[in-house]
Amino acid sequence: MVSDKITAIKPLLVLVLVLLFCVFVSGSDAQVRCVESEREALLSFKNGLVDDYGSLSSWRRDECCEWHGVECSIATGHVVALQLDGANLRGKIGSSLLELHHLTYLDLSWIDFGGIPIPRFIGSMKQLRHLHLSTCNFSRTVPPQLGNLTNLRSLDLSANSLTSASLSTHGFALESLEILNLAYNQLDGSLPDVRAFSSLTELHLWGNNFTGTIPLSIGHLPKLQVLDLSYNSLDGLVPLNIGHLSNLRVLDLSYNSLEGSVPQSIGQLSKLLLLDLSYNSLEGLVPLNIGQLSSLQVLHLSYNSLEGLVPLSIGQLSELQVLDLSNNSLEGLVSESHFIKLDRLKTLDLSFNSLIFDVSPSWSPPFQLERINLAGCSVGPYFPKWIRTQTSVSYLNLSGAGVRDEAPRWLWSASSRLEYLYLSSNQISGTIPNLSSASIVYMDLSYNQFSGPVPLFPANATDVLLFGNMLSGSISSVCETRHDRLSVLLLSNNQLSGEVPNCWGKMPNFYSLNLASNDFSGEIPSSLGALHGLNLLQLHGNNLSGELPHSLRHCRQLRLIDVGGNKLTGEIPTWIGQMRNVQFLSLRGNKLHGSIPHEICNLASIQVLDFSINNLSSMIPDCFNNFTVITSKNATSIVPSLFGMVFDTNNVNKHYGYSSYEWKGRESEYKKNLGLLKLVDFSSNRLSGSIPKSFSSMRGLNSLNLSKNSLTGYIIPDIGKMEMLDSLDLSHNQLSGKIPTSLAEIYTLGVLDLSDNNLSGKISTSTQLQSFNPSVYAGNDGLCGDPLPKCPEDSSRPSTTSSGGNMNEKDDDDNNNFSFMQEVGVSMAFGFIVGFWGVVGSFILKKSWRIAFFNSLDAAGDWFYVEIAVPVLVSKWRRNW
Ligand SMILES: *[C@@H]1O[C@H](CO)[C@@H](O)[C@H](O)[C@H]1NC(C)=O
Ligand SMILES: *[C@@H]1O[C@H](CO)[C@@H](O)[C@H](O)[C@H]1NC(C)=O
Ligand SMILES: *[C@@H]1O[C@H](CO)[C@@H](O)[C@H](O)[C@H]1NC(C)=O
Ligand SMILES: *[C@@H]1O[C@H](CO)[C@@H](O)[C@H](O)[C@H]1NC(C)=O
Ligand SMILES: *[C@@H]1O[C@H](CO)[C@@H](O)[C@H](O)[C@H]1NC(C)=O
Ligand SMILES: *[C@@H]1O[C@H](CO)[C@@H](O)[C@H](O)[C@H]1NC(C)=O
Ligand SMILES: *[C@@H]1O[C@H](CO)[C@@H](O)[C@H](O)[C@H]1NC(C)=O
Ligand SMILES: *[C@@H]1O[C@H](CO)[C@@H](O)[C@H](O)[C@H]1NC(C)=O
Ligand SMILES: *[C@@H]1O[C@H](CO)[C@@H](O)[C@H](O)[C@H]1NC(C)=O
Ligand SMILES: *[C@@H]1O[C@H](CO)[C@@H](O)[C@H](O)[C@H]1NC(C)=O
Repeated sequence: MVSDKITAIKPLLVLVLVLLFCVFVSGSDAQVRCVESEREALLSFKNGLVDDYGSLSSWRRDECCEWHGVECSIATGHVVALQLDGANLRGKIGSSLLELHHLTYLDLSWIDFGGIPIPRFIGSMKQLRHLHLSTCNFSRTVPPQLGNLTNLRSLDLSANSLTSASLSTHGFALESLEILNLAYNQLDGSLPDVRAFSSLTELHLWGNNFTGTIPLSIGHLPKLQVLDLSYNSLDGLVPLNIGHLSNLRVLDLSYNSLEGSVPQSIGQLSKLLLLDLSYNSLEGLVPLNIGQLSSLQVLHLSYNSLEGLVPLSIGQLSELQVLDLSNNSLEGLVSESHFIKLDRLKTLDLSFNSLIFDVSPSWSPPFQLERINLAGCSVGPYFPKWIRTQTSVSYLNLSGAGVRDEAPRWLWSASSRLEYLYLSSNQISGTIPNLSSASIVYMDLSYNQFSGPVPLFPANATDVLLFGNMLSGSISSVCETRHDRLSVLLLSNNQLSGEVPNCWGKMPNFYSLNLASNDFSGEIPSSLGALHGLNLLQLHGNNLSGELPHSLRHCRQLRLIDVGGNKLTGEIPTWIGQMRNVQFLSLRGNKLHGSIPHEICNLASIQVLDFSINNLSSMIPDCFNNFTVITSKNATSIVPSLFGMVFDTNNVNKHYGYSSYEWKGRESEYKKNLGLLKLVDFSSNRLSGSIPKSFSSMRGLNSLNLSKNSLTGYIIPDIGKMEMLDSLDLSHNQLSGKIPTSLAEIYTLGVLDLSDNNLSGKISTSTQLQSFNPSVYAGNDGLCGDPLPKCPEDSSRPSTTSSGGNMNEKDDDDNNNFSFMQEVGVSMAFGFIVGFWGVVGSFILKKSWRIAFFNSLDAAGDWFYVEIAVPVLVSKWRRNW
């Protein structure tokens, strides 16, 4: 972004440079003799620098006028310009430069001066006309002495770490200054007062931390051509007198917090080439007179709250190349008339408005677009025919555009330049043809109704997203071509069948494979082991059999392995312990037998470990203190950002309701969310022995399920150390002894099930354990005490009546609060809509905890939903009925 900006502001500067260069080049043809004192000064300056790459190797010979970056006056031989190619230089800036009395042009950009302030002595170089110190690693304040440079025409201090520039208060009177560039520093406070800079043509202040309003005085710079205040924290209105800047060519106020409406006076800026007001909080209408901006080439008004219609006058902007009105609240029809003179338009982005794109099927637009984004507009129901006329399109995004139509055949060949194709979340049907000669790189056709076979992919494709369609048949065609660049292939939630092909060795750049929720059968192919860069492997919800291939151990980058809901047999391989990066491992719902290998103790990064619903037997290894992520309470953000993208959204999987995550918000927020989920599930196996003592080390665990096994012995006394637990299910085992009192200390616990064990003794008294429905303790003959019937020894004590009374009061409390059943019910309903079930469940009981733990998430309004617990909840729900 930043480099974009730098390139964007360059052209005008470059022009100046080019002119100067022409002068120098002609100058150096003539033999000019170097002035000895200046030669000394230059050498002394050079001595301050570290020149690792020999950039200044020509600075040796006598004739300093021929040195690289040095230019002398033809007439006098004095050094007049110094422009170094500083990218490989660092060191000190020596004051010997002061000896160059005739220097008018000084450009030391890109030399790393090590974070010092700009030296004051530069303020004494009065003859300077151009001072360029961009990207020099200067920090702190701009010295007021620079205000003495009264001959300065251009001053470029951009891309340093300057924190203050009190230009106005120090009598800066740079009346001849034409270009002032302080962009991309850390300047804060209000904008500098530039009233005195009456010659200013360019003012670049973007990428700082300026706050407050844009002063009206800005309207009093009659020569201003470029005003770039973007990427600051400015608020208030766009100055109404902005229309006075009649020479303005570039007005960029984007990425601030400006409010109010776009002033009508903007229509007076007849020389304006670029208008960017995007990413503010502007309201009201798009000015009706916008069509008067007859020179306008680029118009960005996106990410505001503009409302009303798109003015017809936009169709008069005959120079317009970029029209971006995305993400506003614009409404109404967009018709042919809106584009009547836009024959130069290259980019059209109307996405995320309430616009209805209403053009005649035979419309032949005046433009040839390169980028089309109509996502979230109402484009359908028919596939827009006019797109066929756009033969240069490289980016087409019609996601969620209400298209309910068959994909036209011409779509796939309309533009030979099409690289990015996004059609997701429509109801587009039809088959996808052979795309092997298409130029598409990134293709997202997810959530549509495409049917027929998986096509041959475009030869250069990197990302192919076809999940949530009705594609059927085998995918052996994947093997027919070499896909050197393919890195993401998501085919989940289709009706694909047959074997998973065994040709993955042909795809060296593979990163993520999702074949989940299809009908694939046969074995997991061994060639997957050739995908050394594979990070995410999702095969759940198929009919795969056989063992996990031994070759998978070569995929050392794997972070997510989900092969649940298949018919895999054999034992859990011991090589699993070599997969040191694995964060998510689900073997749930297979036919695995044998013991849980001790090697899992090496999976230090594990976050989700799910071996449930298999035939595993024997004891659980006692090394859970080794799982450093789970033992930490930190909500780590270890999960890669792509993780989120890879999960299907809106997917309630009919085969196997696991690993379906619903994502809201942007990619950056996924990390934060998933970091919260830490889970161990060994339920529904035949595990025996006791609960390992090391379980208590898992202080960050959110959910533990050991139910439906044959575990014996006591519940570990310090179970209360798992203080982040939302859900604990130990039901259907043969655990004996008392319920440890420490359990009452897990304040986060929202779901508990200890039923059907051999537990005994009195349930320790705490609002926590009493708040659960009695059914969670059922089937333990020896348990007694609130919420179960009172214990026999209690009834012999005098306090019996009062404790009985308390119990009744508690019952009343329970009725006032939520009963367990209601809680589960509410959790489920919520879960489907918004959140992580356990969290929501416990929210209802513990508001303060919610505020503390989920504060940030709450604010961001982003939730994630894990279906993992739904089976548990459903069974409880039933039992309660
Ligand atoms: C600036 O200089 C400091 C001190 O030498 C150095 O640590 C830092 O890496 C430099 N910054 C850049 C961006 O070069
Ligand atoms: C330069 O500016 C400073 C501070 O503004 C001032 O004190 C000084 O007199 C000026 N003149 C010279 C030659 O430095
Ligand atoms: C801008 O200011 C905020 C707080 O005022 C600070 O957190 C942030 O780091 C600053 N940004 C820059 C680029 O200096
Ligand atoms: C528009 O942008 C805002 C702020 O980024 C965002 O909250 C909102 O969801 C966006 N609207 C749409 C329709 O995407
Ligand atoms: C399609 O356009 C919408 C709206 O601008 C955007 O949110 C989405 O990310 C785009 N899709 C892709 C994959 O670029
Ligand atoms: C797919 O198209 C390519 C190039 O257009 C062609 O070579 C190949 O034979 C086609 N394959 C099939 C199965 O149609
Ligand atoms: C694939 O990329 C190569 C190299 O960038 C290019 O020469 C070739 O034309 C591309 N193929 C297609 C079908 O676009
Ligand atoms: C699953 O695969 C087996 C063979 O491995 C086959 O007999 C069975 O019919 C398949 N089941 C389904 C539902 O496809
Ligand atoms: C814990 O992990 C380390 C390496 O990650 C391994 O050497 C050690 O044996 C493990 N501890 C146990 C008890 O298995
Ligand atoms: C947890 O976070 C704290 C503070 O953010 C940090 O000091 C600590 O090292 C982290 N612990 C682990 C195990 O990552």
